[in-house]
Amino acid sequence: MPLKNQNPTQTKAWKKIQDAYQELKQIDMKTLFLYDADRKEKYTLRHNGLKLDFSKNRIDDTTLTSLLALANEVDLKDGIDKMFSGDMINTTENRAVLHTALRNKSGNPVLVDGKNIMEDVDETLQKIKEFSNKIISGQHKGYSGKAITDVVNIGIGGSDLGPRMVVDALQYYKNHLKTHFISNIDGDHVFETIKNLNPKTTLFVIVSKTFTTQETLTNAETVKKWFLSQGASQADIQHNFVAVSTNLEKVIDFGIASENIFTMWNWVGGRYSLWSAVGLSISLALGYDNFDQLLTGAYQMDEHFRTTSFDKNIPVTLALLSIWYNNFFETESEVVIPFSQYLTQLVPYLQQLSMESNGKSVDRNGEKVDYQTGNIIWGNTGTNVQHAFMQLVHQGTKLIPVDFIGFSASLYGNKDHHDKLMANFYAQAEALYLGKSREDVHLELKIANQQDKIAQLMPFKVFEGNRPSNALLMEKLNPKNLGSLLAMYEHKTFVQGYIWNIYSFDQFGVELGKELAKKYL
Ligand code: F6P
Repeated sequence: MPLKNQNPTQTKAWKKIQDAYQELKQIDMKTLFLYDADRKEKYTLRHNGLKLDFSKNRIDDTTLTSLLALANEVDLKDGIDKMFSGDMINTTENRAVLHTALRNKSGNPVLVDGKNIMEDVDETLQKIKEFSNKIISGQHKGYSGKAITDVVNIGIGGSDLGPRMVVDALQYYKNHLKTHFISNIDGDHVFETIKNLNPKTTLFVIVSKTFTTQETLTNAETVKKWFLSQGASQADIQHNFVAVSTNLEKVIDFGIASENIFTMWNWVGGRYSLWSAVGLSISLALGYDNFDQLLTGAYQMDEHFRTTSFDKNIPVTLALLSIWYNNFFETESEVVIPFSQYLTQLVPYLQQLSMESNGKSVDRNGEKVDYQTGNIIWGNTGTNVQHAFMQLVHQGTKLIPVDFIGFSASLYGNKDHHDKLMANFYAQAEALYLGKSREDVHLELKIANQQDKIAQLMPFKVFEGNRPSNALLMEKLNPKNLGSLLAMYEHKTFVQGYIWNIYSFDQFGVELGKELAKKYL
């Protein structure tokens, strides 16, 4: 069954949210905290070591009740159930949406067209495990008989961003293999990457769901040519090249042996695919057990999302808050700021996840929408952002909700650094919320012995504050927690698209540019 079709702006709840907005748009969050001693605890949700503190948002109980009523009125539960049970909810491509099956640890079957896909999923996971073990242990050798030292992932979009981000994020857990990523069709980058590689000890993992993507195929052909020019023969390709794809025929045409193909399926969208064989580079870099932990973390978040009432549901809450700002406060963007340098690649990954999914302007009825949909996602890591764009978030003319992501413990245990890092994590949220009053500025300048400058500097030094943020806190960055965090954002994206009444799992908007590029070529 397809997803239900309901214009959110025509619901009773939408009118109530509009009323709530009129009430709240001028209110200072400080007042809300003042009148509700339990606000912080009340607006904190926890799941499996992940804590979401959403108390620093411009909401009250009435807003939340109305937002939750919206989720109920459009029957979000029905949408969630349909996604998990393999209904054809990607209607425009006539496909199920089952990235959740890739990390399904329940032991229950998942049916697509009456077939239990868990058998295929488990078989592929087993193949990933065996292959990773053989490469890591050196049992699988390159064509000259030497163990593999380097892995190059060649793919783009969903076939690059997820694995690249996870390998980078979890580099603390990495083994001896060096991992490289080639995505852009920029030949200079291809040659920069391969110039110091030894073809005998390098494994190329070509990842393309369709195996028709111009960038990936061009890069793969260039690398193959280079490989053959270094003394390897056509027959040697089977030792040093593997592929991940749904298009077996095209992979075989490329010259990769069928036993070196890791399958994926049409019911996995590219940007939701790191949990499939697209994550092979993750398993190679971190070992299969860590890959499995990543899946476990995601599965735990799936269960939370699927079974928890909406008022305690982390992805649902994040999505409703995002709709609140996007559609009522007319904010245009959200900034994501992880306080971990390991998560540098998180924002580009989230940009594809959210913007390719929800950058749509036609509803599930085929009609042009007259309300806002997908947000612009941007960001970078703390504390770097404080010396770059945070000025605009604190004092600019735009209201920009923030997600701060932090960890209570560092991986190497350096307390001095971590205390300073996390002091900034808390300070940024507080500065956005509190701002700086005229009285504070007055006092500050007085203490600095600059009384003569008070009148002149006052307007520039006052921060109005009242700027919203979520604080997401986990104990430490490990595969399981990262899995939960990513699944959380996947489900947030799903809920937003569901409520906006759009199709989140196609991406026709990227096709025209590809066609025109071919024409120019
Ligand atoms: O950017 C468009 C897109 O189709 C993405 O959705 C996808 O992740 C990417 O291209 C790569 O596609 P493929 O894995 O088929 O090469």
